Amino acid sequence: MAFRYLLMPFDLIQRKNPGRDRAKRGGPADGGRPAYGRLGAMADGSWYDADIDHVIISEAQIREKTAELAKQVAADHAHVEDGLLLVCVLKGAVMFMADFARALGRHGPPAELEFMAVSSYGQGTTSSGVVRILKDLDRDIAGRHVIVVEDIVDSGLTLSWLLRYLESRSAASVEVVALFRKPDAVKVPVPVKYVGFDIPTEFVVGYGLDFDERYRELPYVGVLKPEVYARS
Ligand code: PRP
Repeated sequence: MAFRYLLMPFDLIQRKNPGRDRAKRGGPADGGRPAYGRLGAMADGSWYDADIDHVIISEAQIREKTAELAKQVAADHAHVEDGLLLVCVLKGAVMFMADFARALGRHGPPAELEFMAVSSYGQGTTSSGVVRILKDLDRDIAGRHVIVVEDIVDSGLTLSWLLRYLESRSAASVEVVALFRKPDAVKVPVPVKYVGFDIPTEFVVGYGLDFDERYRELPYVGVLKPEVYARS
């Protein structure tokens, strides 16, 4: 299929990503796996093309922006002697964490990688902002300079909780680098110093973002065709 490499106007679509919500919070997506695109498309290795309506952020744009963000973070933390502590919130941020950490490695300061897994308690189709820790940090972060590496800030509820949690553990500083942000979906304002792309509140997948745990491995971010989540 021909992709349209266009950024949609931010105010075009106002709804929160329904697939991520439904998959995360027990809606209809739990009733079955998403059906995949045409078998013919799978044969040439682009099986997902049939399910994607259009690309909004290309692989090249992600690579370029990641390098830019790493340079900014490196420049702002050149004085940090004991290295940065990068904290990735599984699972969506894993792609960005891997690429961001390597980009940062070209500039310094040195970084250590930590991973957390959390689960949001939902109420109906909305997140309550109450978070349960499924996997905690493996080390003490007291006195450390922490960078939270997020794939996306949507409502801001997860990040809002996480920042309070990390600060309660006496980090010397806590800042956030988020590759994507949906400004129209924000419910809780959170301080995100480094933002890659502001994107529309659309049903997006790829580069870590999933629908029912699928499409995370796409190298770009695209809008899922409505019929894909409608039939699940
Ligand atoms: C996503 C994403 C963020 C969070 C943002 O994770 O990785 O952590 O949602 O949403 P919010 O701003 O509305 O809180 P998700 O809970 O979907 O889990 P996943 O990373 O495993 O896909």
